Amino acid sequence: MTTHGPTRRTVLLATGAAAFTVGCGEYGNEGGDSGSDTVEASAGQELAKTSEIPVGGGTIFKDEKVVVTQPKEGEFKAFTNICTHQQCPVANVDGGTINCTCHGSKFSITDGSVENPPATQPLAEKKITVQGDSIRLA
Ligand code: FES
Repeated sequence: MTTHGPTRRTVLLATGAAAFTVGCGEYGNEGGDSGSDTVEASAGQELAKTSEIPVGGGTIFKDEKVVVTQPKEGEFKAFTNICTHQQCPVANVDGGTINCTCHGSKFSITDGSVENPPATQPLAEKKITVQGDSIRLA
């Protein structure tokens, strides 16, 4: 696991897509000459169809590092998938909570708040937009 996500996003925000024309060997799977965006969880990227998110539950998108939940029908939320206890990726959404199986923390699917320790901090919310049946990162 790498920890360069926030730094990479900062670069994206600061310099725009042109930054990706700079040689970046670790993501060299598309030739690297088009400036295409291979960063996880880019703004505007479609995460899921609304039908993929169970009501009263949620779905984890590991590559995008996002958990999308639907606490009530038609109400969608998104949170980071990284547990605030010791940074394990959360394992599942079950029983109305987002669950980390490393040490048993559970988080609310409604607001990311801690429902079971040892975590003490909520999962950070991520902004999404729902357009029709498409859920995208905002
Ligand atoms: S890292 Fe999630 S409970 Fe410890």
